[in-house]
Amino acid sequence: MAKDSLSVTDNRTGKQYEMPIENGCVKAIDFRKIKTSDQDFGLMSYDPAFLNTANCKSAITFIDGDAGILEYRGYPIDQLAEKSTHLEVSYLVMNGELPNKAQLEEFTTKITHHTYVHENIKSFMDGFRYDAHPMSMLASTVAGLSSFYPEAKNVKNREVRRAQMMRLIAKMPTLAAFSYRHSQGLPYVYPNNDLGYTENFLTMVKSIGKPNWRPHPALVKALDLLFILHADHEQNCSTTATRVVGSSEVDPYSAVAAGITALYGPLHGGANEAVLRMLREIGDVKNVPEFITRVKGGDGTKLMGFGHRVYKNYDPRAKVIKKACEEVFEVTGKNPALEIAVELERIALQDEYFVKRKLYPNVDFYSGLIYEAMGFSADFFTNLFAIPRTVGWVSQWEEMITDDEQKIARPRQVFTGKRKRDYLPIDKR
Ligand code: ACO
Repeated sequence: MAKDSLSVTDNRTGKQYEMPIENGCVKAIDFRKIKTSDQDFGLMSYDPAFLNTANCKSAITFIDGDAGILEYRGYPIDQLAEKSTHLEVSYLVMNGELPNKAQLEEFTTKITHHTYVHENIKSFMDGFRYDAHPMSMLASTVAGLSSFYPEAKNVKNREVRRAQMMRLIAKMPTLAAFSYRHSQGLPYVYPNNDLGYTENFLTMVKSIGKPNWRPHPALVKALDLLFILHADHEQNCSTTATRVVGSSEVDPYSAVAAGITALYGPLHGGANEAVLRMLREIGDVKNVPEFITRVKGGDGTKLMGFGHRVYKNYDPRAKVIKKACEEVFEVTGKNPALEIAVELERIALQDEYFVKRKLYPNVDFYSGLIYEAMGFSADFFTNLFAIPRTVGWVSQWEEMITDDEQKIARPRQVFTGKRKRDYLPIDKR
Protein backbone atom coordinates (compact mmCIF):
# COMPACT_ATOMS: atom_id res chain seq x y z
CA MET A 1 0.00 0.00 0.00
CA ALA A 2 1.43 3.39 -1.03
CA LYS A 3 2.34 5.84 1.69
CA ASP A 4 -0.02 8.82 2.20
CA SER A 5 2.59 11.42 1.44
CA LEU A 6 4.12 13.45 -1.35
CA SER A 7 7.87 13.49 -1.97
CA VAL A 8 9.15 16.66 -3.57
CA THR A 9 12.58 17.53 -4.88
CA ASP A 10 13.42 21.22 -5.10
CA ASN A 11 15.60 21.35 -8.20
CA ARG A 12 16.92 24.76 -7.16
CA THR A 13 18.65 23.25 -4.14
CA GLY A 14 18.46 19.49 -4.71
CA LYS A 15 16.79 19.14 -1.30
CA GLN A 16 14.00 16.63 -0.76
CA TYR A 17 10.84 17.13 1.27
CA GLU A 18 8.02 14.89 2.33
CA MET A 19 4.51 16.21 2.88
CA PRO A 20 1.60 14.31 4.38
CA ILE A 21 -1.49 13.82 2.18
CA GLU A 22 -4.77 14.07 4.08
CA ASN A 23 -8.23 13.92 2.48
CA GLY A 24 -6.60 14.05 -0.95
CA CYS A 25 -4.86 17.34 -0.09
CA VAL A 26 -1.42 18.56 0.87
CA LYS A 27 -1.38 21.57 3.18
CA ALA A 28 -0.28 24.71 1.35
CA ILE A 29 1.50 25.84 4.52
CA ASP A 30 3.80 22.76 4.26
CA PHE A 31 5.32 24.30 1.11
CA ARG A 32 6.64 27.13 3.26
CA LYS A 33 9.48 24.93 4.52
CA ILE A 34 10.79 24.65 0.94
CA LYS A 35 13.38 27.44 0.86
CA THR A 36 16.47 28.33 -1.11
CA SER A 37 18.07 29.99 1.95
CA ASP A 38 17.21 30.86 5.55
CA GLN A 39 16.15 34.35 4.39
CA ASP A 40 13.81 32.96 1.75
CA PHE A 41 10.11 33.36 2.72
CA GLY A 42 9.38 29.83 1.45
CA LEU A 43 7.38 28.42 -1.45
CA MET A 44 3.73 29.42 -1.89
CA SER A 45 1.04 28.03 -4.18
CA TYR A 46 -0.47 30.37 -6.80
CA ASP A 47 -4.15 29.72 -7.46
CA PRO A 48 -6.19 32.65 -8.81
CA ALA A 49 -9.95 31.98 -8.49
CA PHE A 50 -9.23 29.00 -6.18
CA LEU A 51 -9.38 26.54 -9.07
CA ASN A 52 -7.66 23.83 -7.06
CA THR A 53 -7.62 25.04 -3.47
CA ALA A 54 -9.82 23.71 -0.67
CA ASN A 55 -10.55 26.65 1.62
CA CYS A 56 -12.25 24.68 4.37
CA LYS A 57 -13.46 21.33 5.60
CA SER A 58 -17.23 21.12 5.29
CA ALA A 59 -19.83 18.49 6.18
CA ILE A 60 -22.82 20.21 4.56
CA THR A 61 -22.98 19.63 0.80
CA PHE A 62 -21.32 16.98 -1.35
CA ILE A 63 -20.93 17.41 -5.10
CA ASP A 64 -19.41 14.93 -7.55
CA GLY A 65 -19.41 16.98 -10.73
CA ASP A 66 -18.31 14.11 -12.99
CA ALA A 67 -21.05 11.81 -11.81
CA GLY A 68 -23.70 14.58 -11.55
CA ILE A 69 -24.26 14.00 -7.81
CA LEU A 70 -25.49 16.62 -5.33
CA GLU A 71 -26.28 15.72 -1.71
CA TYR A 72 -27.20 17.85 1.31
CA ARG A 73 -25.94 16.15 4.49
CA GLY A 74 -25.83 12.87 2.53
CA TYR A 75 -29.37 13.03 1.13
CA PRO A 76 -29.54 13.02 -2.71
CA ILE A 77 -31.10 16.17 -4.12
CA ASP A 78 -33.68 14.29 -6.21
CA GLN A 79 -35.07 12.55 -3.08
CA LEU A 80 -35.28 15.81 -1.17
CA ALA A 81 -36.90 17.53 -4.16
CA GLU A 82 -39.51 14.81 -4.43
CA LYS A 83 -40.31 14.24 -0.77
CA SER A 84 -39.30 17.22 1.36
CA THR A 85 -40.11 20.92 1.82
CA HIS A 86 -37.80 23.90 1.89
CA LEU A 87 -38.19 24.40 5.65
CA GLU A 88 -37.45 20.74 6.36
CA VAL A 89 -34.40 20.94 4.09
CA SER A 90 -33.36 24.15 5.88
CA TYR A 91 -33.46 22.31 9.21
CA LEU A 92 -31.40 19.51 7.66
CA VAL A 93 -28.79 21.86 6.18
CA MET A 94 -28.49 23.80 9.46
CA ASN A 95 -28.50 20.85 11.86
CA GLY A 96 -27.12 17.88 9.93
CA GLU A 97 -30.15 15.60 10.39
CA LEU A 98 -33.75 15.56 9.18
CA PRO A 99 -36.11 16.78 11.92
CA ASN A 100 -38.67 14.62 13.66
CA LYS A 101 -42.25 15.92 13.77
CA ALA A 102 -41.83 17.95 16.97
CA GLN A 103 -38.52 19.44 15.82
CA LEU A 104 -40.00 20.47 12.47
CA GLU A 105 -43.02 22.04 14.15
CA GLU A 106 -40.82 24.03 16.54
CA PHE A 107 -38.53 25.14 13.70
CA THR A 108 -41.49 26.16 11.53
CA THR A 109 -43.09 28.12 14.38
CA LYS A 110 -39.86 29.97 15.10
CA ILE A 111 -39.30 30.89 11.45
CA THR A 112 -42.93 31.97 11.06
CA HIS A 113 -42.70 34.27 14.08
CA HIS A 114 -39.60 36.05 12.82
CA THR A 115 -40.93 37.05 9.40
CA TYR A 116 -41.78 40.64 10.37
CA VAL A 117 -39.20 43.39 9.94
CA HIS A 118 -38.87 46.60 11.95
CA GLU A 119 -41.11 49.35 10.53
CA ASN A 120 -38.07 51.58 9.98
CA ILE A 121 -36.85 49.12 7.33
CA LYS A 122 -39.85 50.12 5.27
CA SER A 123 -38.80 53.76 5.60
CA PHE A 124 -35.34 53.19 4.29
CA MET A 125 -36.68 51.00 1.50
CA ASP A 126 -38.81 54.01 0.53
CA GLY A 127 -35.59 55.96 0.09
CA PHE A 128 -34.58 53.91 -2.95
CA ARG A 129 -35.36 55.23 -6.42
CA TYR A 130 -38.59 53.99 -8.00
CA ASP A 131 -36.64 51.76 -10.41
CA ALA A 132 -34.05 50.43 -7.92
CA HIS A 133 -32.91 46.88 -8.68
CA PRO A 134 -34.49 44.49 -6.13
CA MET A 135 -31.14 42.78 -5.56
CA SER A 136 -29.44 46.04 -4.66
CA MET A 137 -32.27 46.78 -2.21
CA LEU A 138 -32.02 43.31 -0.70
CA ALA A 139 -28.26 43.53 -0.10
CA SER A 140 -28.55 46.96 1.51
CA THR A 141 -31.47 46.09 3.78
CA VAL A 142 -29.87 42.85 4.97
CA ALA A 143 -26.69 44.81 5.83
CA GLY A 144 -28.95 47.34 7.57
CA LEU A 145 -30.49 44.61 9.77
CA SER A 146 -27.15 44.44 11.56
CA SER A 147 -27.95 47.81 13.18
CA PHE A 148 -31.28 46.49 14.49
CA TYR A 149 -29.67 43.53 16.27
CA PRO A 150 -26.45 44.79 17.88
CA GLU A 151 -26.18 41.58 19.96
CA ALA A 152 -25.50 39.74 16.67
CA LYS A 153 -21.85 40.75 17.02
CA ASN A 154 -21.53 38.06 19.67
CA VAL A 155 -20.74 35.43 17.05
CA LYS A 156 -19.10 32.99 19.48
CA ASN A 157 -22.31 32.56 21.48
CA ARG A 158 -24.32 29.67 20.01
CA GLU A 159 -27.68 30.90 21.24
CA VAL A 160 -27.16 34.40 19.83
CA ARG A 161 -25.80 32.96 16.60
CA ARG A 162 -28.76 30.65 16.11
CA ALA A 163 -31.26 33.45 16.77
CA GLN A 164 -29.74 35.52 13.95
CA MET A 165 -29.63 32.54 11.59
CA MET A 166 -33.35 31.98 12.14
CA ARG A 167 -34.06 35.68 11.69
CA LEU A 168 -32.17 35.76 8.40
CA ILE A 169 -34.03 32.73 6.99
CA ALA A 170 -37.36 34.15 8.20
CA LYS A 171 -36.92 37.75 7.07
CA MET A 172 -35.32 37.16 3.67
CA PRO A 173 -38.66 36.45 1.88
CA THR A 174 -40.18 39.56 3.50
CA LEU A 175 -37.28 41.77 2.40
CA ALA A 176 -37.24 40.24 -1.09
CA ALA A 177 -41.00 40.75 -1.43
CA PHE A 178 -40.77 44.37 -0.19
CA SER A 179 -37.95 45.03 -2.72
CA TYR A 180 -40.15 43.69 -5.50
CA ARG A 181 -43.19 45.67 -4.42
CA HIS A 182 -41.11 48.84 -4.28
CA SER A 183 -39.70 48.24 -7.77
CA GLN A 184 -43.25 47.78 -9.07
CA GLY A 185 -44.65 50.80 -7.22
CA LEU A 186 -46.95 48.58 -5.17
CA PRO A 187 -47.74 48.80 -1.43
CA TYR A 188 -45.94 46.36 0.87
CA VAL A 189 -47.90 43.33 2.05
CA TYR A 190 -47.13 42.16 5.61
CA PRO A 191 -46.36 38.51 6.38
CA ASN A 192 -49.26 36.26 7.32
CA ASN A 193 -48.44 33.82 10.12
CA ASP A 194 -51.16 31.41 9.01
CA LEU A 195 -49.33 30.65 5.78
CA GLY A 196 -46.37 28.40 5.05
CA TYR A 197 -42.97 29.84 4.16
CA THR A 198 -43.31 29.78 0.36
CA GLU A 199 -47.04 30.50 0.22
CA ASN A 200 -46.49 33.51 2.48
CA PHE A 201 -43.72 34.79 0.22
CA LEU A 202 -45.80 34.46 -2.95
CA THR A 203 -48.70 36.20 -1.21
CA MET A 204 -46.49 39.11 -0.12
CA VAL A 205 -45.24 39.44 -3.71
CA LYS A 206 -48.42 38.97 -5.67
CA SER A 207 -51.54 39.85 -3.72
CA ILE A 208 -53.24 43.13 -4.44
CA GLY A 209 -56.65 44.41 -3.46
CA LYS A 210 -57.85 41.05 -2.13
CA PRO A 211 -56.74 40.29 1.44
CA ASN A 212 -57.73 36.63 1.11
CA TRP A 213 -55.97 36.07 -2.22
CA ARG A 214 -53.77 32.95 -2.21
CA PRO A 215 -51.36 31.64 -4.86
CA HIS A 216 -52.20 28.44 -6.73
CA PRO A 217 -51.00 25.42 -4.66
CA ALA A 218 -49.17 23.98 -7.69
CA LEU A 219 -47.13 27.18 -7.99
CA VAL A 220 -46.37 27.17 -4.25
CA LYS A 221 -45.16 23.57 -4.59
CA ALA A 222 -43.02 24.36 -7.64
CA LEU A 223 -41.39 27.40 -6.04
CA ASP A 224 -40.75 25.45 -2.84
CA LEU A 225 -39.06 22.80 -4.96
CA LEU A 226 -36.88 25.45 -6.62
CA PHE A 227 -36.03 26.70 -3.12
CA ILE A 228 -34.90 23.18 -2.15
CA LEU A 229 -32.67 22.96 -5.24
CA HIS A 230 -30.99 26.28 -4.39
CA ALA A 231 -30.50 25.80 -0.62
CA ASP A 232 -26.75 25.20 -0.78
CA HIS A 233 -24.03 24.44 -3.30
CA GLU A 234 -20.87 24.15 -1.19
CA GLN A 235 -18.05 26.66 -1.79
CA ASN A 236 -19.51 28.76 -4.64
CA CYS A 237 -18.69 32.46 -5.06
CA SER A 238 -21.36 33.89 -2.71
CA THR A 239 -20.78 31.29 0.00
CA THR A 240 -17.05 31.93 -0.15
CA ALA A 241 -17.75 35.67 0.10
CA THR A 242 -19.91 35.04 3.19
CA ARG A 243 -17.23 32.88 4.79
CA VAL A 244 -14.40 35.30 4.00
CA VAL A 245 -16.25 38.37 5.32
CA GLY A 246 -17.55 36.38 8.30
CA SER A 247 -14.02 35.26 9.16
CA SER A 248 -13.36 38.80 10.43
CA GLU A 249 -15.98 37.92 13.10
CA VAL A 250 -18.36 40.59 11.85
CA ASP A 251 -22.07 39.91 12.55
CA PRO A 252 -23.88 37.47 10.19
CA TYR A 253 -26.10 40.17 8.62
CA SER A 254 -23.00 41.90 7.28
CA ALA A 255 -21.48 38.59 6.17
CA VAL A 256 -24.66 37.47 4.38
CA ALA A 257 -25.00 40.91 2.73
CA ALA A 258 -21.59 40.16 1.16
CA GLY A 259 -22.97 36.84 -0.09
CA ILE A 260 -25.94 38.63 -1.65
CA THR A 261 -23.73 41.13 -3.48
CA ALA A 262 -21.62 38.25 -4.83
CA LEU A 263 -24.76 36.49 -6.04
CA TYR A 264 -25.89 39.70 -7.79
CA GLY A 265 -23.11 39.32 -10.40
CA PRO A 266 -24.10 37.97 -13.83
CA LEU A 267 -21.53 35.16 -13.68
CA HIS A 268 -23.20 33.76 -10.60
CA GLY A 269 -26.92 34.35 -10.06
CA GLY A 270 -27.82 35.99 -13.34
CA ALA A 271 -27.48 33.24 -15.97
CA ASN A 272 -31.17 32.26 -16.11
CA GLU A 273 -32.03 35.75 -17.31
CA ALA A 274 -29.47 35.29 -20.12
CA VAL A 275 -31.13 31.98 -21.07
CA LEU A 276 -34.45 33.76 -21.53
CA ARG A 277 -32.85 36.44 -23.70
CA MET A 278 -31.22 33.72 -25.83
CA LEU A 279 -34.51 31.81 -26.26
CA ARG A 280 -36.24 35.01 -27.32
CA GLU A 281 -33.50 35.75 -29.81
CA ILE A 282 -33.82 32.26 -31.35
CA GLY A 283 -37.55 32.92 -31.53
CA ASP A 284 -38.70 29.66 -33.13
CA VAL A 285 -37.84 25.95 -33.02
CA LYS A 286 -36.96 26.04 -36.72
CA ASN A 287 -34.07 28.44 -35.96
CA VAL A 288 -32.43 26.08 -33.43
CA PRO A 289 -30.03 24.26 -35.83
CA GLU A 290 -28.76 27.59 -37.16
CA PHE A 291 -28.16 28.84 -33.60
CA ILE A 292 -26.26 25.66 -32.68
CA THR A 293 -24.08 26.13 -35.78
CA ARG A 294 -23.32 29.68 -34.63
CA VAL A 295 -22.32 28.48 -31.15
CA LYS A 296 -20.00 25.90 -32.68
CA GLY A 297 -18.59 28.45 -35.11
CA GLY A 298 -16.57 30.09 -32.34
CA ASP A 299 -17.85 33.67 -32.72
CA GLY A 300 -18.22 33.76 -28.92
CA THR A 301 -21.93 32.90 -28.89
CA LYS A 302 -22.65 30.57 -25.99
CA LEU A 303 -25.48 28.20 -25.39
CA MET A 304 -26.53 29.87 -22.16
CA GLY A 305 -27.62 27.52 -19.38
CA PHE A 306 -25.17 24.90 -20.61
CA GLY A 307 -21.86 24.00 -18.99
CA HIS A 308 -20.69 24.32 -15.40
CA ARG A 309 -17.35 24.67 -13.65
CA VAL A 310 -18.05 21.68 -11.41
CA TYR A 311 -20.64 19.55 -13.24
CA LYS A 312 -19.24 17.71 -16.21
CA ASN A 313 -22.46 15.74 -16.45
CA TYR A 314 -26.17 16.63 -16.38
CA ASP A 315 -26.66 19.04 -13.45
CA PRO A 316 -28.95 16.98 -11.17
CA ARG A 317 -30.94 20.14 -10.36
CA ALA A 318 -31.69 20.75 -14.05
CA LYS A 319 -33.27 17.28 -14.31
CA VAL A 320 -35.67 18.05 -11.45
CA ILE A 321 -36.55 21.51 -12.81
CA LYS A 322 -37.29 20.18 -16.29
CA LYS A 323 -39.91 17.87 -14.76
CA ALA A 324 -41.38 20.68 -12.64
CA CYS A 325 -41.80 22.86 -15.77
CA GLU A 326 -44.60 20.61 -17.00
CA GLU A 327 -46.54 20.91 -13.73
CA VAL A 328 -46.21 24.70 -13.64
CA PHE A 329 -47.20 25.13 -17.27
CA GLU A 330 -50.37 23.13 -16.66
CA VAL A 331 -51.46 26.01 -14.40
CA THR A 332 -49.92 28.98 -16.17
CA GLY A 333 -50.22 27.81 -19.76
CA LYS A 334 -47.18 26.79 -21.75
CA ASN A 335 -44.27 29.19 -22.03
CA PRO A 336 -43.65 29.09 -25.81
CA ALA A 337 -39.92 29.26 -25.16
CA LEU A 338 -40.01 25.80 -23.55
CA GLU A 339 -40.33 24.13 -26.93
CA ILE A 340 -37.19 25.93 -28.11
CA ALA A 341 -35.33 24.97 -24.92
CA VAL A 342 -36.25 21.29 -25.25
CA GLU A 343 -35.15 21.25 -28.90
CA LEU A 344 -31.86 23.01 -28.05
CA GLU A 345 -31.19 20.41 -25.38
CA ARG A 346 -32.10 17.51 -27.70
CA ILE A 347 -29.72 18.67 -30.43
CA ALA A 348 -26.91 19.71 -28.09
CA LEU A 349 -26.89 16.43 -26.17
CA GLN A 350 -26.14 14.49 -29.33
CA ASP A 351 -23.78 16.98 -30.94
CA GLU A 352 -20.08 16.12 -30.80
CA TYR A 353 -19.08 19.72 -29.89
CA PHE A 354 -21.08 19.61 -26.64
CA VAL A 355 -20.48 15.92 -25.90
CA LYS A 356 -16.70 16.29 -26.24
CA ARG A 357 -16.63 19.30 -23.92
CA LYS A 358 -19.02 17.66 -21.44
CA LEU A 359 -21.52 20.51 -21.73
CA TYR A 360 -24.90 19.66 -20.21
CA PRO A 361 -27.86 21.78 -19.07
CA ASN A 362 -27.24 23.48 -15.74
CA VAL A 363 -29.75 24.66 -13.11
CA ASP A 364 -30.37 27.90 -14.98
CA PHE A 365 -31.43 26.34 -18.28
CA TYR A 366 -35.04 25.79 -17.16
CA SER A 367 -35.43 27.88 -13.97
CA GLY A 368 -35.93 31.21 -15.78
CA LEU A 369 -38.78 29.67 -17.81
CA ILE A 370 -40.60 28.72 -14.61
CA TYR A 371 -40.01 32.07 -12.94
CA GLU A 372 -41.26 33.88 -16.03
CA ALA A 373 -44.33 31.67 -16.26
CA MET A 374 -45.07 32.51 -12.61
CA GLY A 375 -45.13 36.17 -13.61
CA PHE A 376 -41.81 37.33 -12.13
CA SER A 377 -39.82 39.95 -13.98
CA ALA A 378 -36.29 38.92 -14.91
CA ASP A 379 -34.60 41.39 -12.55
CA PHE A 380 -36.26 39.57 -9.63
CA PHE A 381 -34.83 36.13 -10.51
CA THR A 382 -31.72 36.60 -8.38
CA ASN A 383 -33.79 37.52 -5.30
CA LEU A 384 -35.59 34.22 -5.84
CA PHE A 385 -32.18 32.56 -5.61
CA ALA A 386 -31.08 34.55 -2.52
CA ILE A 387 -34.10 33.50 -0.42
CA PRO A 388 -33.34 29.76 -0.36
CA ARG A 389 -29.56 30.20 -0.44
CA THR A 390 -29.77 32.06 2.88
CA VAL A 391 -29.85 28.78 4.79
CA GLY A 392 -26.70 27.68 2.94
CA TRP A 393 -24.94 30.95 3.72
CA VAL A 394 -25.77 30.95 7.43
CA SER A 395 -24.97 27.25 7.87
CA GLN A 396 -21.62 27.61 6.10
CA TRP A 397 -20.94 30.76 8.13
CA GLU A 398 -21.60 28.93 11.41
CA GLU A 399 -19.47 25.98 10.31
CA MET A 400 -16.63 28.43 9.65
CA ILE A 401 -17.07 30.31 12.96
CA THR A 402 -16.98 27.05 14.96
CA ASP A 403 -14.06 25.51 13.06
CA ASP A 404 -10.86 25.66 15.16
CA GLU A 405 -8.74 25.48 12.02
CA GLN A 406 -10.21 28.69 10.57
CA LYS A 407 -8.78 32.16 11.10
CA ILE A 408 -9.40 35.50 9.45
CA ALA A 409 -9.13 34.91 5.68
CA ARG A 410 -6.02 36.55 4.38
CA PRO A 411 -4.52 35.22 1.13
CA ARG A 412 -0.98 35.89 -0.02
CA GLN A 413 -0.05 37.64 -3.26
CA VAL A 414 2.64 37.42 -5.92
CA PHE A 415 3.92 40.99 -5.98
CA THR A 416 4.53 42.26 -9.53
CA GLY A 417 4.83 46.01 -8.92
CA LYS A 418 7.73 48.42 -8.49
CA ARG A 419 9.92 48.28 -5.38
CA LYS A 420 11.38 50.97 -3.20
CA ARG A 421 11.90 54.34 -4.92
CA ASP A 422 12.21 57.88 -3.61
CA TYR A 423 9.30 60.30 -3.49
CA LEU A 424 9.48 63.04 -6.16
CA PRO A 425 8.01 66.50 -5.53
CA ILE A 426 5.15 67.26 -7.94
CA ASP A 427 7.12 69.75 -10.08
CA LYS A 428 9.78 67.07 -10.76
CA ARG A 429 7.43 64.40 -12.12
N1 ACO B 1 -21.78 27.16 -24.91
C1 ACO B 1 -20.83 26.87 -25.82
N2 ACO B 1 -19.57 26.50 -25.52
C2 ACO B 1 -19.27 26.42 -24.20
C3 ACO B 1 -20.22 26.73 -23.20
C4 ACO B 1 -21.51 27.09 -23.60
N3 ACO B 1 -22.46 27.37 -22.68
N4 ACO B 1 -19.64 26.57 -21.98
C5 ACO B 1 -18.39 26.19 -22.21
N5 ACO B 1 -18.15 26.11 -23.55
C6 ACO B 1 -16.91 25.67 -24.21
C7 ACO B 1 -15.82 26.71 -24.05
O1 ACO B 1 -15.84 27.63 -25.13
C8 ACO B 1 -14.59 25.85 -24.04
O2 ACO B 1 -14.34 25.44 -25.38
P1 ACO B 1 -12.84 25.24 -25.93
O3 ACO B 1 -12.28 24.12 -25.11
O4 ACO B 1 -12.98 24.94 -27.37
O5 ACO B 1 -12.14 26.55 -25.64
C9 ACO B 1 -15.03 24.61 -23.28
O6 ACO B 1 -16.45 24.52 -23.51
C10 ACO B 1 -14.72 24.64 -21.79
O7 ACO B 1 -15.37 25.78 -21.21
P2 ACO B 1 -14.77 26.72 -20.07
O8 ACO B 1 -15.22 28.12 -20.34
O9 ACO B 1 -13.31 26.46 -19.92
O10 ACO B 1 -15.50 26.15 -18.79
P3 ACO B 1 -15.60 26.86 -17.38
O11 ACO B 1 -15.69 25.78 -16.38
O12 ACO B 1 -14.54 27.89 -17.19
O13 ACO B 1 -17.00 27.66 -17.50
C11 ACO B 1 -19.27 28.23 -17.36
C12 ACO B 1 -18.17 27.23 -16.95
C13 ACO B 1 -18.85 29.68 -16.99
C14 ACO B 1 -20.57 27.90 -16.59
C15 ACO B 1 -19.51 28.11 -18.87
O14 ACO B 1 -19.87 26.79 -19.19
C16 ACO B 1 -20.56 29.10 -19.38
O15 ACO B 1 -20.23 30.25 -19.63
N6 ACO B 1 -21.85 28.65 -19.52
C17 ACO B 1 -22.91 29.53 -19.92
C18 ACO B 1 -23.34 30.44 -18.77
C19 ACO B 1 -24.15 29.70 -17.73
O16 ACO B 1 -25.07 28.94 -18.04
N7 ACO B 1 -23.83 29.92 -16.44
C20 ACO B 1 -24.55 29.33 -15.30
C21 ACO B 1 -23.70 28.41 -14.50
S1 ACO B 1 -24.64 27.64 -13.21
C22 ACO B 1 -24.69 28.80 -11.94
O17 ACO B 1 -23.84 29.61 -11.81
C23 ACO B 1 -25.77 28.75 -10.92
